[in-house]
Amino acid sequence: MVSRTIPVDTFDLVLFGATGDLATRKILPSLYRRFLAGQMPQDARVIGAARSKLDDAGFRKLVAEALDEFVSKSKRDKATIEAFLNQCSYIAIDAKGDSGWAELKKSVRDEAIKAFYFSVAPSIFGTLAEKLRSHGIACENSRLVVEKPFGTDLETAKKLNADLAASFDETQIYRIDHFLGKETVQNLMAVRFANVLFEPLWNERYIDHVQITVAETVGVGGRGSYYDKSGAMRDMVQNHLMQLLCLTAMEPPSQFDPDRLRDEKLKVIRALDPVGQKDVVRGQYKAGKEPSYVEDAENPDSRTESYVALKIGISNWRWKHVPFYLRTGKRMTKRMSEIVIQFKETSHSIFDRDEGSMANALTIRLQPDEGMDLSVTIKEPGPGGMRLVNVPLDMSFAEALGPDGEEIPDAYERLIMDVIRGNQTLFMRGDEVEAAWAWTDPIIEGWEERGDRPQAYAQGSSGPEDALMLMHRDGRRWRDLED
Ligand code: BG6
Repeated sequence: MVSRTIPVDTFDLVLFGATGDLATRKILPSLYRRFLAGQMPQDARVIGAARSKLDDAGFRKLVAEALDEFVSKSKRDKATIEAFLNQCSYIAIDAKGDSGWAELKKSVRDEAIKAFYFSVAPSIFGTLAEKLRSHGIACENSRLVVEKPFGTDLETAKKLNADLAASFDETQIYRIDHFLGKETVQNLMAVRFANVLFEPLWNERYIDHVQITVAETVGVGGRGSYYDKSGAMRDMVQNHLMQLLCLTAMEPPSQFDPDRLRDEKLKVIRALDPVGQKDVVRGQYKAGKEPSYVEDAENPDSRTESYVALKIGISNWRWKHVPFYLRTGKRMTKRMSEIVIQFKETSHSIFDRDEGSMANALTIRLQPDEGMDLSVTIKEPGPGGMRLVNVPLDMSFAEALGPDGEEIPDAYERLIMDVIRGNQTLFMRGDEVEAAWAWTDPIIEGWEERGDRPQAYAQGSSGPEDALMLMHRDGRRWRDLED
């Protein structure tokens, strides 16, 4: 397959929080990989900005170490790394004070696309935006990239939106949800809207329910103080799982255009039913091979959930009576993210059936082994009569695209290049984030009012018992994480 990497226009990317964890783990390695792929122009520049008193050489050393740790060996080419480092420089900036800003103004070029990446605590988003504006560094075609968490509830999200809006237009703001940069998530749109096969069936007439799972094996050790104030609901459901639900449930946009697409996602969020307490299960992992959640969070009384499962209804014509079951958790048996569209059984069967469902299911695997499979019912081979079995039509994207296919890039590579291209399609709009919080807040407030504890679950399991019941009581079951 011929590579279709098209270089972007030259840019100056100013990375605030350049010495932090996300920058070194994701952002800088992603920029390097785009450089290696020939997409980052030779005169584009990465300007690190943070409080630490580093010089250019010190920053380059930090970048080199990050590439060493987070870029696979096969992609670490000495000469290319040297060339990339030459495009990196550093300015020590006091976000709240005045030092560093004049130097930054001198450093960024008027003729280049200017992107300001806020990989910092949201509490200083507003201050940074205001400084960029008041020092005359940002201009009409500058772009602002902000990381999650975008607020902790509706009120804080509204304040953040207002703070950014005071200095930047919505068309300049790129709110990252890195799940949208994942290849298979984009493929969900291609599968739905570029094939004639699925869309006619994509509704309450043919679909029984939808399951969305994001299971992780990692715990929260190392980031317990952030996570304990957040929990799975704020950390994963309000953003990542909500985006997956939206892309699965939305109406076809009239064009593949940022605002048309985001309008459709917003309509889904606004059509979500409020979730009653009987339709939510919270869990917290116990001690096992690894420390317990409360040890990781260093808070023995913590009532924060490291797992959550929900049953969600959508009140519109397409989805009435089709529940969406969502679950996500840490320290589970397997790292696996997938969306399962479970179709109904045929309305009348002409075959004798053994036990078990013979309904079709379309599974979109986000990770690992990106791909999709469609289970179809066929006759079991052999002379034993008309016995039916369900078998998968399985497609692994890596296999389908062959050994010459491009390696699936990290979500951040795609998203950062989209910022430079000025394409907001895969970024969340301010009203979308607010609507997601407006739906999430009452659920969290309900827990806080009752003060109950999440149910304990074993490490390496599929989550708490009650989560199984959430589906069993409807005569359904979660897909086995071991499948
Ligand atoms: C982050 C969450 O946004 O996404 C983490 O804060 C989570 O808690 C991570 O582990 C999962 O991302 P990925 O790309 O590893 O699936």
